[in-house]
Formats: sequence, C-alpha cells, structure tokens
Amino acid sequence: MTQFIDKLLSRRSVVANDMQAPGPSQEELQQILRAAHRVPDHGKIGPWRFVVFEGDARDDFSKKLGAIFQEENPDASAKLVDFESSRLTRAPLVIAVIASPDLQHPKVPVWEQELSVGAACQNILVAALALGYGAQWLTEWYSFSAKVDALLNLQSHEKIAGFIYIGSYEKTPDERVRPDLESRLHYWAE
Ligand SMILES: Cc1cc2nc3c(=O)[nH]c(=O)nc-3n(C[C@H](O)[C@H](O)[C@H](O)COP(=O)(O)O)c2cc1C
Repeated sequence: MTQFIDKLLSRRSVVANDMQAPGPSQEELQQILRAAHRVPDHGKIGPWRFVVFEGDARDDFSKKLGAIFQEENPDASAKLVDFESSRLTRAPLVIAVIASPDLQHPKVPVWEQELSVGAACQNILVAALALGYGAQWLTEWYSFSAKVDALLNLQSHEKIAGFIYIGSYEKTPDERVRPDLESRLHYWAE
C-alpha cells in the first residue's frame, strides 16, 4: 500500500519520444484495458471505447495521419509531413480512447459521462505505471480533425479523449513544476 501511494505521489508522464520497445505483453495489455474499464461510471453506461494500435498498425495509421496532415497543411515541409507520418511509431503501444456518451440518457448528464472517460484515461496511465512502463496522454492535432474522426469511424456524438502512448523507458523523468495545491484548497467552514 505504501508503494501504491508512493507511485501516485511521484507519478510523471514519460514523453512519447523517450519510449522504446518492449511494450506491454498481451496479458499486460488486457490488464491495462480492464483497469480502464473499472472506473466510476454513473448509470453503468460505459461511455467509452478503445482503439489499440500495435505492430504495423501504428505505421499504417501514422501514414494516413501524414496524408491528412498534408491535405490540411498544403504548405508544410516534407520533413514535417514525414514526422507526422510516423507519429504513432514513437511508442510500442498506443491506445486511442474515444468518448462515446449517451446523449439521450434520462439521468446522467454528458459532462459526467465525459468525466468517466477521463478517469478511464487516467487508469490507463496508472496501470501502465504499475506494470513498470512509461505512458503519456496526448491529443496533439489529430484528436481534433474531422478527417481523423472519419478514419476511426467516429459517430457524430463521439469525440477523441486522447491517444495514450505506452512503452519502456530508460531515464526516469525529472520532477516538473506543479500547480500550487495550497491556493487551490479550502476547508469549508460556515
Ligand atoms: C487531455 C490531455 C491532453 C494532452 N495533450 C497533450 C499534447 O497534445 N501535447 C503535450 O505535450 N502534452 C499533452 N498533455 C499533457 C501530458 O499528458 C502530460 O500530462 C504532461 O506532459 C505533464 O506530465 P505529467 O503527467 O508528468 O504531469 C495532455 C494532457 C491531457 C490531460
């Protein structure tokens, strides 16, 4: 238990550029996905879905991202288009988390459902950390492109919550400046 709280209190993202193979095994991937699936979820809606990119799928998808990037940025340099064409290959495993809320739910507001999706993303980060991997939650430009949405077969009510990059790493990231807790904390008293 001490280890668990220590992990949480020292948690840092590992940037995707610093990741390398090996990524999680199939068994570890299932554990990560089950952890993601075990978040508080008002109404038991499960307002999320996951798209896993591993092996050649990362390269295939990234090439399509590169083509979309070029279409959307016709003046971009060849070097930049090349970089965009290999985005997902930075890590051995990438999980796209899609928010898929029930817009007509009689009781649970979409805001609450979206919070659950954020919790699923965070559980992926924490599960990856617990298994000894680095992870980073990124949106970058391709979480906000209608063409990428179409590539992922998103329905009109769905949104990309992010792409979670997971992999091994060598250097433990340095601490970063954190928002000040004291100024964000009040003990309510009448
Ligand atoms: C929804 C969401 C989207 C993010 N998108 C990006 C991004 O596109 N690029 C980026 O550099 N960091 C992004 N971040 C921040 C990183 O995931 C990470 O939190 C940040 O680098 C700080 O590291 P830490 O987790 O160690 O505090 C995003 C975070 C969240 C919650």
